Order: sequence, then structure tokens, then C-alpha cells
Amino acid sequence: MMSAQQMLKVFVTRRIPQEGMKILKKAGMCNLSVWDSDEPVPRAELLKGVADAHGLLCLLSDKIDAEVLNAAGPNLKVISTLSVGFDHLAIDEIKKRGIRVGYTPDVLTDATAELTVALLLATARRLPEGVEEVKNGGWSTWKPLWLCGYGLSGSTVGVIGLGRIGLAIARRLKPFGVKRLLYTGRQPKPQAQEVDGEYVPLDTLVRESDFVVVSCSLAPDTQSLCDKTFFSKMKKTSIFINTSRGAVVNQEDLFEALSSGQIAAAGLDVTTPEPLPTNHPLLTLKNCVVLPHIGSATYSTRGVMSALTANNLLAGLTGSEMPSELKL
Ligand code: NDP
Ligand code: DGY
Repeated sequence: MMSAQQMLKVFVTRRIPQEGMKILKKAGMCNLSVWDSDEPVPRAELLKGVADAHGLLCLLSDKIDAEVLNAAGPNLKVISTLSVGFDHLAIDEIKKRGIRVGYTPDVLTDATAELTVALLLATARRLPEGVEEVKNGGWSTWKPLWLCGYGLSGSTVGVIGLGRIGLAIARRLKPFGVKRLLYTGRQPKPQAQEVDGEYVPLDTLVRESDFVVVSCSLAPDTQSLCDKTFFSKMKKTSIFINTSRGAVVNQEDLFEALSSGQIAAAGLDVTTPEPLPTNHPLLTLKNCVVLPHIGSATYSTRGVMSALTANNLLAGLTGSEMPSELKL
């Protein structure tokens, strides 16, 4: 056990699953300060809470930039984020200060791929519309032309970003009878063989796919990747799915594409901003299914993410090898 003076200050920006908190408490080396709420920490509280901290456990909704790092000061050794995405972290600033970063790859891949498949099917087969019709009395009888959608059998699926999650999505979609699996990214992937993936330019993927699935990371080159030009190349019968980050999509252009019939439907688990205001135009469209960023939301996955985030943090504090360190 460390003496009170030796304890390392750790700021945790949200109430997190108990698995992680137990690990941090048991380690006996952290003076824990927690923003004990299910809601995001206000910026002023974040700046206050992080002051002199040795470790910061944060979420994807916390923007960790130079201002936060300056507020933390020179003690800060490690930032551990409860997410695989790290677009909320100012990596250059972090690197400059020699701070290590932990994140949560792999452990949420299955849950996120599963949710992506669920969203794709719900969007393509119009499940939310159907559920609504049952409730509002719109279901008068079985009608041959009513609530028809699009199926995966014999289709072409295009995955933008065949990383951990992209590949897991492809693996799950193939058994539905997908005929061609196209993918694009920065380079061809040997593991694409497993799903008979064809590496194609983005333009080909967008033009030829019946289902376009976005699973890349958000970076300067993917910001607003899906814009007016992108949607104008898609088939009128095609479905657009995004479970990566909202900023990959230009939402005004998506609204236009959906409302003009340029594309058939869209399913989004991520938006800009989050939450999407309830009066947002996308929410007026029947052919747009929006979920509240729940890709990794299974009890077990969130528990494992929490434990991994805690273990990454402790390893960063003690200068040992992290279970999952982001290579800066
Ligand atoms: P990976 O790093 O394994 O995959 C990211 C992929 O994006 C890589 O294959 C990479 O390609 C690709 N990519 C990067 N730049 C481009 C580009 N310009 N065009 C096309 N592809 C590109 O990460 P994960 O699969 O683990 O996670 C992906 C993202 O999913 C996360 O960054 C996060 O934003 C999001 N996510 C969302 C969740 C949710 O709840 N909805 C849950 C978990 C993650 P290459 O390998 O060639 O560099
Ligand atoms: C991530 O981890 O990046 C997701 O968006 C939430 O699990």
C-alpha cells in the first residue's frame, strides 16, 4: 500500500461499469476523483478535475485537447479512453508531452459488428416503420406492395474500412448470401481473403454496392467522406449504414440524398452532434433509422471495456506494458 502522499491522482470523467472501478480501487495506488454522473462532465469541471492528475480515464465525449493537457500539467503520464475510437484525443499534443494512451480495441468488435448487422437489417427491411404501423393501426391487412424493402441475398456489399470491426461485419453478412463483398481502405488486407473481399477504389465501391457500410476510423481524410458527390454515385436502391463516427458523413447531403430518392435508406448509429437534436431534419424521414451510439452496448462488452480501460491506466501509471496501448 502506498502512503497518502505517494498516491497518484486519477480523474475519471464519468460513472463507468463497476468492473473498472473495482480494479482501480483494488490497486491501492490511486487517489480517485470521479465525475459521478451518467452525463458528460462539464468542460469547466473537466479542467478543474484534471489539475495535477497523473492519470485521466476519459470517454469519447470528452475532448482532450491542449487546454485540458495544460490544465492537467506535467504530472499527467497516461490517458486511458473507454473506447476504441480516439478522434476525441489531440494526438499530436499528447505525443509532444510524452503521455501514453490506452484504448479498447478488439473487446468491442463483436458487439459493434452485431449491432451494425442489426441496424442494416432494420433499415433495409424497414423494421421501425413496420413496428410503428402495428401500433398506429396502419396494418389493415397483408398487402403485396406494402412495406417492401431490400434483402442481402445476391447483393453486393461495400465496406469502407475493413479493420477489426469492418471484417467482423463482413464475416457476419456473408452467410446471408452476399454475392460480392467489396472493400476500400488505405491498402489491401490479406485477411480480406476470408470473406472473398475485393479491394476496389472508393468510387467503384460506391457505384456498385447495394449496401454501403462505413466502419473506418475518423481522421482528416475520412472527415465528410460521405458527401453530395458520394451519395450521387450510389444506386437509387442502395442502403447506407454508418457505425463509425458521425463526422464521416455530411448530414445535409445525406438528408438531400434520402429525401430526393437518390438513395433508398440510411441507418446511423453515430451522428453530429450527439445527441442529435430531436427536431433534426433526418428524424423526419421514414427512410432514416437513427440509433443513439449503442454499437458496443452489451452488458458484458461494456464491463470488459471498463476493466481494460482501468488496466491500461494502471499500467500507464506504473510505467509497465499496457494490455492495449495506442501506438502514437
Ligand atoms: P481499425 O483501426 O481496426 O479499423 C479502422 C479502419 O479504417 C482501418 O481498416 C483503416 O484502413 C480504415 N481507414 C482509415 N482511413 C481510411 C480511409 N481514408 N478510407 C477508408 N478506410 C480508412 O478500428 P476498429 O475497426 O476497431 O474501429 C473502427 C471505428 O469504429 C473506430 O475508430 C470508431 O470510430 C468506430 N466505433 C464505433 C462504435 C459504435 O458504437 N458505433 C463502436 C466501436 C468503434 P487501413 O487499415 O487501411 O488503415
Ligand atoms: C468506440 O469505442 O469508439 C465506440 O464508439 C464506443 O464503444
